[in-house]
Amino acid sequence: MLDFLKDEQIDPELLKGIEDFRRQFPPEEASSSGAHPRYVYYGREVWEQALSALLCGENLLLAGSKATGKNVLAENLAALFGRPSYNVSFHINMDASFMIGADTFRDRQVVFRPGPVYESAARGGFCILDEINMARNEALAVLHSVLDFRRVINVPGYDSIQVHGAARFIATMNYGYAGTRELNEALASRFMVIHMPEITEENLVKLLRREFPAMKKEYTQQFAGLFTDIGKKCKSGELTARVLDLRGLLDSIRLMRRGLSPLLALDMGITNKTFDTYEQSLVRDIIASRISKKADRHSVFDL
Ligand SMILES: Nc1ncnc2c1ncn2[C@@H]1O[C@H](COP(=O)(O)OP(=O)(O)O)[C@@H](O)[C@H]1O
Ligand SMILES: [Mg+2]
Repeated sequence: MLDFLKDEQIDPELLKGIEDFRRQFPPEEASSSGAHPRYVYYGREVWEQALSALLCGENLLLAGSKATGKNVLAENLAALFGRPSYNVSFHINMDASFMIGADTFRDRQVVFRPGPVYESAARGGFCILDEINMARNEALAVLHSVLDFRRVINVPGYDSIQVHGAARFIATMNYGYAGTRELNEALASRFMVIHMPEITEENLVKLLRREFPAMKKEYTQQFAGLFTDIGKKCKSGELTARVLDLRGLLDSIRLMRRGLSPLLALDMGITNKTFDTYEQSLVRDIIASRISKKADRHSVFDL
């Protein structure tokens, strides 16, 4: 991963910072397998913001629309710092005992079963608080002392524990569409916040090359251009953010590789994400301007 960041021209001082961190907190055997994550995050500025914050011991909040690489970046960061990662998926019924832990019976004895926040705090893990805004505010109050300068976890009925020096908390939150909730101010103030941008066309070309090595160059350009076209129409208000879906584009391309016609695949991954027939026809026009009706798997891939 360090080599990848060198290629991406990340500030060498930050890379040196990561090496120092790994010297101070040597990665455990188990987590070194995470050194080659499935996806890599592209975006130099975001990398530099995230690395600076984590090296300063801060917690990170990655806020942005769907499929802007929030989870990919969070996992990349854990791998890069050589720390085990713990994932907590937030939902409306999340409570303190799930995050921190709770008493449970084992062999007719009461024992403490640690939750993911406790485990990361104890082992110096990277705890990914996924879609943190989905939880109720009252449930989140237990995180306050963990996330601020106190760095301490209070477990009712037990001694409180100090958060390990290598532990970091990375929250993600989706916003930008109906039904997304705000994060309360007290919690937001405990994070350094990055607003995750949509991937640039240039970086999308890199992503497509890495993900689909057999894709023909001209199609890599067309798909990246298509995503940019849709992005522009969303900005100008002609389309809704529903159809700006990188995850959907990548899924469509996988279907093409399986043999489905590109237009049918893009219908499923992009066009049909809106249920408005007028918007669908606008999206189909944009697609038609870039991808020929006659295209098939062999036009797209060297297979
Ligand atoms: N800037 C980016 N760099 C690399 N991959 C990205 C980027 N933005 C989006 N993706 C891709 O989009 C998909 C969704 O990423 P994910 O991290 O799950 O998004 P989010 O958590 O923001 O919804 C993944 O396949 C990921 O590789
Ligand atoms: Mg996500």
